[in-house]
Amino acid sequence: MLKEETLSNEYDLAIIGAGPGGYHAAIRAAQCGAKVALIEKNRLGGTCLNRGCIPTKALLASAHYFEKLHDAEEFGISIGDCKVDFSKVVERKNKIVNELGAGIANLQKSWKNDIYQGYGKILGGNAEIGFEILIQGDNAEEFIVAKRVIIATGSTPALIPNFNVDHVRILTSDDILDPNFNVIPENLLIIGAGVIGCEFADIFANFGSKVTLLEYLPSPIAGEEPMIIKELKKKFDLMGIKIVTSQNVLSVEHTGSNVKAITCSTSVPINEIEDAEKSTYESDYCLISIGRNKLSKDLGLEKLGIMTNRGAIEVDPATLETSVNGIYAIGDVTGGLMLAHVASYEGDVAVANALSSLTQFQVKPTKTNYRAVPSTIFTSPNIGTVGLKRKEAKELGIDLYVGQFPYQSLGKAKCMGENGLLIILADKYTLQIVGASCIGEGASELIAEITLAMQHGLSVEDLTKTIHSHPTLSEMVLEAAEAVVGRAIHKKGRPVAHSLKEVLLEQLVYEY
Ligand code: NAI
Repeated sequence: MLKEETLSNEYDLAIIGAGPGGYHAAIRAAQCGAKVALIEKNRLGGTCLNRGCIPTKALLASAHYFEKLHDAEEFGISIGDCKVDFSKVVERKNKIVNELGAGIANLQKSWKNDIYQGYGKILGGNAEIGFEILIQGDNAEEFIVAKRVIIATGSTPALIPNFNVDHVRILTSDDILDPNFNVIPENLLIIGAGVIGCEFADIFANFGSKVTLLEYLPSPIAGEEPMIIKELKKKFDLMGIKIVTSQNVLSVEHTGSNVKAITCSTSVPINEIEDAEKSTYESDYCLISIGRNKLSKDLGLEKLGIMTNRGAIEVDPATLETSVNGIYAIGDVTGGLMLAHVASYEGDVAVANALSSLTQFQVKPTKTNYRAVPSTIFTSPNIGTVGLKRKEAKELGIDLYVGQFPYQSLGKAKCMGENGLLIILADKYTLQIVGASCIGEGASELIAEITLAMQHGLSVEDLTKTIHSHPTLSEMVLEAAEAVVGRAIHKKGRPVAHSLKEVLLEQLVYEY
C-alpha cells in the first residue's frame, strides 16, 4: 500500500520508546503501509539491547566459555592456565551492542520510519483529530501529530532509598552493564535472587568473584518449580555462590573502603526490628536487583485521562488500548510480563488494533493470547519454562500427569557432559500440555518446541509421534513427553496403574 501524502510532521502512528516493543511495532506498522514516527530519548534498542538481555548474554557467553575451559581436561584436552581479560570481554560486549543498535537504525531507515531523538510527551488531542506530541531533544523541541499512539517506554531498576545506590560501588544492572564498567569485583554482594540477581551471580562467579546473594523470600527464583530451584542451588553451591534467604535487608551503604549491608531475618516483626539480631555483609561492590519500575511519568497521561496503577499504564488486556481511545501501551510499562519477546508480541497486537481503526489500512483487529509464553533464566545451566508450574496447575484445579527426564540418561547430553532435567505437565484427561520447565544446556531452545505444541493445543501424544533427530538434545522433549505416559525408552520401567493412564497408553501403542 502506498503511503498517503501528508505534512512532514503528520503520522499515522507515533511510538514512544524504541525498545523491543517499540522498534518492533514501528517496523510492523511500516510493513502495513503506515507512516511512522519512532521517538526515543536514549539509544535505539531500549533496555534489552543496551542495558539488559543482549549485553548480559554477551558477558554470559564469555563467562561460560571460560567455565567450559575449566572442564577441558575431562574432555581429554590440556590447555594449561587460562585467564580472563575482562577489558576485552567488555569490549566484545560493547561491540555487539553497537552493531545491533546500528542494525535497528538501518532497519527503520529501510522501512522509511522517522526516528526522533528526544523525550516524547503527549500534549493533547483525540482519536478523531489526532494526538499532538512534543519531542524534547538536547538542543531543540519538535512537534508532531499522530492519528494513533503506542506507548512503549519500558521500565527501570527499582530502587529503595535505604539501599543508597551511588552508581559507583552500589550498582543497578544499568551500571554493571555500562560500556565503561570493566571491573571483576573480588567480592560481590547481590540483593535480590530473582532473574537478574541469579544471572549476574553466575557471570561474576565464573569470572572469579566471590558472590553472595541476599534474598527476601525463602528461596531464590521463587516462582520456579522446586526441582529446578534445587538443581540451580546445587550448581551455585559447586561454584561457591552463597545464597542467604529470608533476609530483610535494612540498609546498604558505601563506607568509603567497602560496601556494607545490614540485614535481619524476615521473621522479625517490623516493630521489633530495632532490637532484633542483625547480620552484616561486606563486599567490594553491591548489585541491587529487586525488580523493575514502570516508566510512565511525564508522558502527559494525567492530562489525557490515561489510567495508571502504581506506575503501570492500564490497558484492555485483549486489545492493549488504554483508557483513551486511539492510545495503546505495550511491554514493561503496562506491568505485565516483563519480557522482551512479550513486548514485541504486544507490539504486533497494538499495531493491528491501531491501524484497523483507520480506514485506509486493510488490517484486521486482533486480541492477545498469552496461552504459551516462554521465559528463560540465562544461568549456566539455563532454565527455560513455559505455561504453568505444578503449584499453579493445582491452584487452577487441573489434574496432572507429570513426565520428567534427566539429561544424564540422554546419549547426546552425556557426550556433552551436561546435567539437568526436563519436566512436562499434561492435563490428566486430555494429555494436552499445560506447562514445562527445563534446567540444562539448551533449555531455552528446548522449551521452544513445547511452546509451539502448547500454543497449538497439542498433546504429549503429538510430541511422542514426532520423529526427533538422534543424537540431539531435542530428544529430551521426546523422552519427557513419553515419560508423562510412563513409556520413556531410556527411563526405568514402572508398573502402570489400572487407570485412564493405561487406556491412553494402549491408544498410543495401538496407533503405531
Ligand atoms: P525479579 O522480580 O525476578 O527478582 C527480584 C528478587 O528480589 C525477588 O526474588 C524478590 O523477592 C527479591 N527482593 C525484592 N526486594 C528485596 C529486598 N528488599 N531484599 C532482598 N530481596 C528482595 O526481578 P529482577 O531480577 O530485578 O528482574 C526484573 C524483571 O526483568 C523481571 O520481571 C524479569 O523477568 C525481567 N528479566 C528477564 C530476564 C530474562 O528473561 N532472562 C533477564 C533479566 C530480567
